[in-house]
Amino acid sequence: MAFDIEMIKGVYAKFPERVAAARKIVGRPLTLAEKILYAHLWDTEKDQPGGEPTTKFERGKDYVDFAPDRVAMQDATAQMALLQFMQAGKPNVAVPSTVHLDHLIQAKIGASADLQNAMNQSSEVFNFLESVSNKYGIGFWKPGAGIIHQVVLENYAFPGGMMIGTDSHTVNAGGLGMVAIGVGGADAVDVMAGMPWELKFPKMIGVKLTGKMNGWTAPKDVILKVAGILTVKGGTGAIVEYFGEGAKSMSCTGKGTICNMGAEIGATTSTFGYDESMERYLRATDRNDVADAANAIKEHLTGDAEVYANPEQYFDQVIEINLSELEPHLNGPFTPDLATPISKMKEVAPGKGWPLDVEWGLIGSCTNSSYEDLSRAASIAKQAVDKGLKTKADFGINPGSEQVRFTAERDGLLQVFEDLDARIFTNACGPCIGQWGRYEDPKNAPKNSIVHSFNRNFSKRADGNPNTHAFVASPEMVAAIAISGRLDFNPLTDTLTNDKGEQVKLDPPVGDELPTKGFDVEDNGYIAPAADGSGVEVKVNPDSDRLQLLTPFEPWDGTNITGMKLLIKAEGKCTTDHISMAGPWLRYRGHLDNISNNCLIGAVNAFNGETNNVKNQLDGSHGEVPAVQRKYKAAGVKTIVVGDHNYGEGSSREHAAMEPRHLGVIAVLVKSFARIHETNLKKQGMLGLTFANEADYDKIQEDDTFNFLDLDQFSPNKPLTLEVVHADGSKENIVCNHTYNAQQIEWFKAGSALNLIRAMAEA
Ligand code: F3S
Repeated sequence: MAFDIEMIKGVYAKFPERVAAARKIVGRPLTLAEKILYAHLWDTEKDQPGGEPTTKFERGKDYVDFAPDRVAMQDATAQMALLQFMQAGKPNVAVPSTVHLDHLIQAKIGASADLQNAMNQSSEVFNFLESVSNKYGIGFWKPGAGIIHQVVLENYAFPGGMMIGTDSHTVNAGGLGMVAIGVGGADAVDVMAGMPWELKFPKMIGVKLTGKMNGWTAPKDVILKVAGILTVKGGTGAIVEYFGEGAKSMSCTGKGTICNMGAEIGATTSTFGYDESMERYLRATDRNDVADAANAIKEHLTGDAEVYANPEQYFDQVIEINLSELEPHLNGPFTPDLATPISKMKEVAPGKGWPLDVEWGLIGSCTNSSYEDLSRAASIAKQAVDKGLKTKADFGINPGSEQVRFTAERDGLLQVFEDLDARIFTNACGPCIGQWGRYEDPKNAPKNSIVHSFNRNFSKRADGNPNTHAFVASPEMVAAIAISGRLDFNPLTDTLTNDKGEQVKLDPPVGDELPTKGFDVEDNGYIAPAADGSGVEVKVNPDSDRLQLLTPFEPWDGTNITGMKLLIKAEGKCTTDHISMAGPWLRYRGHLDNISNNCLIGAVNAFNGETNNVKNQLDGSHGEVPAVQRKYKAAGVKTIVVGDHNYGEGSSREHAAMEPRHLGVIAVLVKSFARIHETNLKKQGMLGLTFANEADYDKIQEDDTFNFLDLDQFSPNKPLTLEVVHADGSKENIVCNHTYNAQQIEWFKAGSALNLIRAMAEA
């Protein structure tokens, strides 16, 4: 089977002693998240995994090197991550890793036609990912096998483990007691190449769940409520840890739903202590050995009793929710933290102008596509059929995995939905990531409402239509609202008219936490890598416009770099989206040269207030940023980018550092950096510098030329001096601070971190 019990046993063998050491160092009882973090330290002295806890880390302050147990990647982000990994010169990945093909499959007609269509459109990407996985020992889940986070929960997540994944909802694995964190491709490359992974030691938010859910309330409503309390930013830099009797009363996949949407409050991740629901799930998913191993150390796989008894003393913030009183919620539109209890929707919706007629109900996504989710929603759908109700809205269902789909089909759940004319889409992300063929022309589509069980509902996310009001709810509420066709339908109190003209009421949902006859599947879609991949050829068509093998960046020649021109002086906000836009550019995520045509096109030029219009100093003309930069490159002229505060905030997308590097930019000099982007620049062999004196930003003129005066003495804790030569020949020196340590300076010298890793692998 696909999981690695020996690796898990290795983690558990050291877990109790590391927890004890951490408790001693920290000097107080520990939360579960702290235990997992301290049990996964990198040994900085020996530069290898397995560091013993010897330092007390300050939450929200200290940057710490960790050694995660696993890496998971989805098809959109895996492309550049694996193209980079190929540069590391390693025969195999250093930790168990998997690739999941789930994002590039559109939902339109139904599972088999849509899957075939995706194969026709994206086979070169799929073939590349399959061959590169095969070569480097990476588990491969083919298109249709399922959504990454459901498949990870079913196969790989384990209590007390630590994983990273190149997708923000990697956090879903917290449902099985992990610390699982979404990262950019560059971080995944580091861990797969055997390097440490750095994280600012998170703050801790505790959520105490009392009471027990009943009636229409579902785990989804817990996180919809928490999102309403904390808002989309309230969890930033923190791990949310759920505990209390209410937590134990919930299924493992329900816990996964709650952790999944921790991404919507900005949390680093969320987690739950190991309990019987997790044991049941492990056993039901063919992992008795993991359950037995976890049971052997179970007292360590949850927070200390004292922490949960007096949470205010040990968490930075505590929230308490009584599940017995929790009402179903509908969150939205356009943001997942706009929480409306269902009993209030009749008052709220009309005043806001939200369309009351609901056109679609969508069940699925990594958030809510478990067997339990489908069974509870199916119990509502079945009542509709039995009570003579017709659904008013259309239904779309994306099962989370082939195992869930196969079992749900065997148990008649999918037939129930089909009796309501639902469309069963591929086991994939589909509408959740905008892969939904709902409209021919979404930009001009009409105002409407939809309800879905997904996690995100930002404008245009599902169908590209800015006028679609998307509301997030539990799968059973989605079913009830889709059947009624009304946003303000409250199934707890309202009735519906059936085909005989009678008033009927829907009973509360019922479902099975796990299939009573067990899970079943014929082909789960997993392809194991070759035992020896050295002879495997990685398939990339040289004429492809979507994939391009990377060429190593040039090493530094050891001299002061001089004669640099200003590419752009960016003014105001310059996020990774401004530097490397998403949208249609996603298609080129695996082709560095093509995606570089979006380089900095969203940045505002401080000299004319415009985007994507900069002066070409070679001939005085103006042009688009990538085009002008390509002219500099062709002429052998190096360039510099100047920016404002918090340059590179936003996502951890490594393309935002790779593109300027590829096009020949040497340095990025700003007032301040978003830390992840600064690190990404360092990894790609660029100079990420800050003004020692912020006012020097104003000294930079459009026609300036730049010379480093002491780059040949580049060393830690020593600022660099940049000579700025203005068009009138006058000169001034600017002091540039940097945060490069000795290792990072080696990255710069080698041309990139990967060049250095490869050189070490070859040595
Ligand atoms: Fe896919 Fe949506 Fe989850 S895009 S990984 S189903 S958030």
